[in-house]
Amino acid sequence: MPEQRLRKQVHLAAHFPGVNHHTVWTDPGSGSQIDFDSFVHLARTAERGLFDFFFLAEGLRLREHRGRIHDLDVVGRPDTFTVLNALAAVTTHLGLAGTINTTYNEPFELARQFASLDHLSGGRAAWNAVTSSDAFTGENFRRGGYLEHAKRYTRANEVVEATRALWDSWSADALLVDRERGVFARPAPEVRFSSEQFDIRGEFVLPRSPQGYPVQIQAGDSDDGREFAAAKADVIFSAHGELEDGQRFYTDVKDRLAKYGRARDDLKILPAAGFVLGDTAEEAAENARRIRRQQVSPQTAIAFLEQVWGRDLSAYDPDGPLPEIDPVDNADITRGRVRHAKDPRAVADAWRARAEAERLSIRDLIIETTARQQFVGTPREVAVAIDHYVQSDAADGFVLVPHLTPTGLDEFVERVIPELQELGSFRTEYTGPTLRDHLGLRHPQHGTEGVRAS
Ligand SMILES: Cc1cc2nc3c(=O)[nH]c(=O)nc-3n(C[C@H](O)[C@H](O)[C@H](O)COP(=O)(O)O)c2cc1C
Repeated sequence: MPEQRLRKQVHLAAHFPGVNHHTVWTDPGSGSQIDFDSFVHLARTAERGLFDFFFLAEGLRLREHRGRIHDLDVVGRPDTFTVLNALAAVTTHLGLAGTINTTYNEPFELARQFASLDHLSGGRAAWNAVTSSDAFTGENFRRGGYLEHAKRYTRANEVVEATRALWDSWSADALLVDRERGVFARPAPEVRFSSEQFDIRGEFVLPRSPQGYPVQIQAGDSDDGREFAAAKADVIFSAHGELEDGQRFYTDVKDRLAKYGRARDDLKILPAAGFVLGDTAEEAAENARRIRRQQVSPQTAIAFLEQVWGRDLSAYDPDGPLPEIDPVDNADITRGRVRHAKDPRAVADAWRARAEAERLSIRDLIIETTARQQFVGTPREVAVAIDHYVQSDAADGFVLVPHLTPTGLDEFVERVIPELQELGSFRTEYTGPTLRDHLGLRHPQHGTEGVRAS
């Protein structure tokens, strides 16, 4: 009999709604971004839905637009480790992923913080290592000087290597309690790590944690970022959520793995995805339209336009046509967020052409160009679409970004998860205690880097 290929399983993560326009805070059902109850609600909902992990993004400086703190998005986030360690106490299986910057943090401190989270959670820690894209954020850290893009990835690679050297310094069978000899712990050997940006010598302070290393996530999109992911990451959180673009990205990064001695399954690709549900396809489409107008208020539409045009457009009517004046190259008009319009003139021309052809106002156009609602439909339709993306190798699953805090995942878990289970592409129970178990990743063993589990 021919061997039957196992159906690819969908991996899901729950993104705590972020500091951006996708999060609707004007809705009466919208709750606090900071109260612990909000984190607990979303995490427990995700765990009820048997998700792989809960995900926190990071912002180290409040965003600014035209020289002032941007007041159209929700503002501020509590410290990542504090939130995740607290969530470890109120969940049992859910992975706990934190975005933590490699440009401003020290490897020893990061190794200690992630090993602590992995110990306290029983093997559920994950680290989304980001480099940050601008000098503006770094000013908070008073290092003096700006680390250019390529150097940031050199540093990111070295930070991850250094943390692994620290974690590896304790072998998995390190003696903790030897009652006969009356010895409490065998000291770890000295760690020496030298690289372009680090020279570390000392002993690591914690025994090896349940997962060995936290699950490594990566989120940058440049060539340097993709190489970093191919060399070191277990998961990529990507922005390539559309089918064909997703397939191109998926092939690109999976093709890079072989040169690092890694298999295609060693790296999971999870794009960010929004979703809107309804009892019928028409109702879902109507809900999606309403939510998009909540996400892009008239002021938000003008702020997005100003980001591309690089100038004050507050005199323009959001319900009117696009400006006839040309953009200026002013990358600093918005600070603290990734800039998508690398060539403002080309973007402005494309937007004007589209607005004219489809008779779109400024606000309509921004709604169309910034929407992140990949999955709109009945629960069955959404489940079928998610499964289709995964079976067609556009993704291994998704990081779902609800638009409401903290209840935005409730309906998905109640109505879409059972449909995915019925399709045979989603677990019906957790099969292991650690996040590596959920993701089907091997546990790194001391001294066996590069050896794959069967
Ligand atoms: C989907 C996605 C999510 C990201 N989330 C964060 C974040 O929460 N915090 C942060 O500081 N940077 C975040 N970044 C920025 C990247 O980690 C990276 O620092 C930046 O994009 C520059 O690297 P690149 O040129 O390789 O894209 C994100 C990037 C992507 C593509």
